[in-house]
Amino acid sequence: MCGIVAYIGPREAYPILIKGLQRLEYRGYDSAGLVIANGGLNMYKTKGKVSDLVEYVKDQKTSGSIGIAHTRWATHGEPNQTNAHPHYSQSRKLAIIHNGIIENYSSLKEELIHRGYEFHSDTDTEVLVNLIEDIQTNEKVSLEEAVRIALNQVIGAYAIAILSVDSPDTIVAARKGSPLVIGIGKDDYFLASDATPIIEYTKNVVYLEDEEVAVLKRNEELKIRNIKNKELTPYIQELEWNLHELEKGGYEHFMMKEIYEQPRSIRDSMRGRLHAQEGTISLGGIIDYEQKLLHARRVIIIACGTSWHAGLVGEYLFEDIARVTVEVEYASEFRYRNPIIDEDDVVIAISQSGETADTLAAIELAKQRGATILGICNVVGSSIPRATHAGIYTHAGPEIGVASTKAFTAQVTILTLMALRLAELKGNIPKSRFMHLLAELENLPNHIEKSLNNRGIIQEIAKRFQDVSNFLYLGRGYNFPVALEGALKLKEISYIHAEGYPAAEMKHGPIALIDENMPVVFIAPKKGIYEKVVSNIQEVKARNGKIIAIVTEGDEHIKKIADYVIEIPETEEFLIPMLASIPLQKLAYHVAILRGCNVDQPRNLAKSVTVE
Ligand code: M6R
Repeated sequence: MCGIVAYIGPREAYPILIKGLQRLEYRGYDSAGLVIANGGLNMYKTKGKVSDLVEYVKDQKTSGSIGIAHTRWATHGEPNQTNAHPHYSQSRKLAIIHNGIIENYSSLKEELIHRGYEFHSDTDTEVLVNLIEDIQTNEKVSLEEAVRIALNQVIGAYAIAILSVDSPDTIVAARKGSPLVIGIGKDDYFLASDATPIIEYTKNVVYLEDEEVAVLKRNEELKIRNIKNKELTPYIQELEWNLHELEKGGYEHFMMKEIYEQPRSIRDSMRGRLHAQEGTISLGGIIDYEQKLLHARRVIIIACGTSWHAGLVGEYLFEDIARVTVEVEYASEFRYRNPIIDEDDVVIAISQSGETADTLAAIELAKQRGATILGICNVVGSSIPRATHAGIYTHAGPEIGVASTKAFTAQVTILTLMALRLAELKGNIPKSRFMHLLAELENLPNHIEKSLNNRGIIQEIAKRFQDVSNFLYLGRGYNFPVALEGALKLKEISYIHAEGYPAAEMKHGPIALIDENMPVVFIAPKKGIYEKVVSNIQEVKARNGKIIAIVTEGDEHIKKIADYVIEIPETEEFLIPMLASIPLQKLAYHVAILRGCNVDQPRNLAKSVTVE
């Protein structure tokens, strides 16, 4: 859950490293540091963000054309300067950066202490670098070989990059469970946790696989071996993303940019898959598994956080449209629950980053038990798509804001396409109705464009409720997951406590919370069991709660009861989750801004959760 960048080549390393860290800051931002090799290993690190590191390094010598850098999200040891990466080995001849967790670090540490090593930080990383040094000293082997031997003794996850005073033109890197991408330039190499720091220099990349060790040496070909010492041929791929997708493009925050990108990102998710005029859907990524999915004994969706909410919408979509039974599980629970699962089951894993540790572990468990695993993922080449049998990329483009927005609607778009494709295969929807549903789906980005213009009323609501301590979000059917997602968005970026509930469950407990200070957000489109939701609104009204309702355009009835209404265009019920979640994203954004919060990098959070 940290960001790694490294560079070796003819250019100055420092600006490349800093820019790279800024692009990776979404992965962690409690401390940052770097080492530039130039004669010795010059290390600079500090608590805080990359901007604090820049300030700290301001008047110091940073020249050199090889370096490694790190932005941290603390796991072992509090976020302070000592625990920040890089870490020196005891002799200060090696410096390491690390993303991941070394699970057996305390036994390794004890052994090293026994052999005279002293430790200055509370990190597992310092243990690893000293282990490598110890091996190199005792066995008189190269740095690459020492790394390989050390990694055979390590239990846990790692992405590492190491510099050595004795090999001043080499970076050794390795991964297991945490991502690493190598960029191959004309006469330079870039290394990073994802491709965002690399894209402006080269589009040619190699995704390092688990238990592989790479040697990036000036003026030499890239060398990769696995930790069993087998030489491997690097597989060079071309990056799909563009540089402009990584910039704020005139918006103050990535989150707002990403909210406004949704008409585009949803169109991209549907491109080449939805053929509304012909009345067909083609999902190339899972074509070989369609029959398996259709005849699965059970379909189980596993995911975390926002992706889990998308999965819940998927449950409604699959059951309602395709008449396929679905269970949705938190990956973190599934992996430890000893679930009953076998080769007749299909698991759909959903993840924006493709790196979420719990989701990856749940996939491995389901795979071991023989299930077929399909993925829905945004980041191409990340770990989850590589761990699944087949899958569909969402094509939402890079999502930098820690709060997921466009990734959520893209995931729901893919689940909608899957549900419709299953219905097409089953032939359980009359053709004319099916054609109509596809046309409505195709038109959804236009509806979203229209509803994105609601800025005035949402800002007014945000102003009115910016100082409250609690919010309740209620919805029924398809809109229950939307309520959960709306509440998650608000709490993670504004730090206001918010809960999502099925509206009818309110009377079984949460209704006790309602008084004149409690804002209650209802997702109440004129579809499904509308009248029942109106009754729930009346129940809140009777207890003086403040009502904010997401309603279908022109709904005069709720307008009379609610304190505030946000209108969304009329559409089919199954498309409302995508439409209704957007004003909730904007509400969370505006409340957070008014409270002075950092919406792109909320406290204690990071974009990809690569630890348990
Ligand atoms: O990358 P993933 O979709 O696997 O991430 C799962 C969650 O960590 C993520 O959705 C998280 O809940 C978001 N920050 C919510 O906005």
